[in-house]
Amino acid sequence: MAAAAASRPRTTFASLAAQKANGEPIAMVTAYDYPSAQIAEAAGVDIVLVGDSAAMTVLGYDSTVPVTIEEMLMLTAAVRRGLATPLLVADLPFGSYEGSDEQAVATAQRFVKTTGCDAVKIERGGSSADRARAIIAAGIPVMGHVGLTPQTAATLGGYRMQGRTADEAIAVFDDALALQAAGCFSIVFEAIPTAATDAMMPRLDVPVIGIGAGPNTDGQVLVFHDLLGIYDGRAARFVKRYAELREPMIEAVAAYADDVREHRYPEPRHGYAMAAAEASRLEALLAERDGRPPIGIVRERA
Ligand code: KIV
Repeated sequence: MAAAAASRPRTTFASLAAQKANGEPIAMVTAYDYPSAQIAEAAGVDIVLVGDSAAMTVLGYDSTVPVTIEEMLMLTAAVRRGLATPLLVADLPFGSYEGSDEQAVATAQRFVKTTGCDAVKIERGGSSADRARAIIAAGIPVMGHVGLTPQTAATLGGYRMQGRTADEAIAVFDDALALQAAGCFSIVFEAIPTAATDAMMPRLDVPVIGIGAGPNTDGQVLVFHDLLGIYDGRAARFVKRYAELREPMIEAVAAYADDVREHRYPEPRHGYAMAAAEASRLEALLAERDGRPPIGIVRERA
């Protein structure tokens, strides 16, 4: 699989549009550090998102709200170092873009300049569509995000499906249309009934990436820790686990701790050798220093 990924061309905004036009599904995953980026790269996904879900999955916050610009910058820069082929999108954190167009542009520019990300993502329609337009006018591509928008989940009644009724679905659709009209190159649909997604899809021109929005979007996104079974929190309905890595990880660390406590690790092969003559000389030098006879430990170990 890694070899196939190595021969893949880089994802571009044009290639994403072509995937939509050709009905080729777009695979997107989150990553938050250098090793997860390298895994996404080797797996050959199309888009990597440094999601503000990092707040919960890697930083241990209760929600995505507290994560700071500085924390997201550090994570995004680490992902950039592990990534060559997929498009790299960075989530702008809550409170870093909503206040004004100027704030949104300044934050987006900071992300692009300091991390090398290809695009940024912002949540909601409404005033966020204006912020998206301003960021795009400043030359930075924007991905939108509608439906369940975790940064403002409190105002949506919690982490729950959006667009439950026809009127609510129209409101989600209007948000998506506003983001598309603002120039977003793609839009995430999160936790939307499949029938609502299916009604909206033929009416949207940009690639739509779903997470809990049914099978008929142009692509899908999952959170790295959810799909690998690393994260201990309650998984949302839309999560499919492709591995259960948490238990084997715990078992491996526990086995290591046991080995340390039982003197089974490190073994001789994990150490560095010293020439016997140098070991003897070291013993003699140390004995001379502290005025005691050589005790022979160094020679035994060498
Ligand atoms: O923060 C995140 O991981 C996201 C995805 C779920 C789309 O926004």
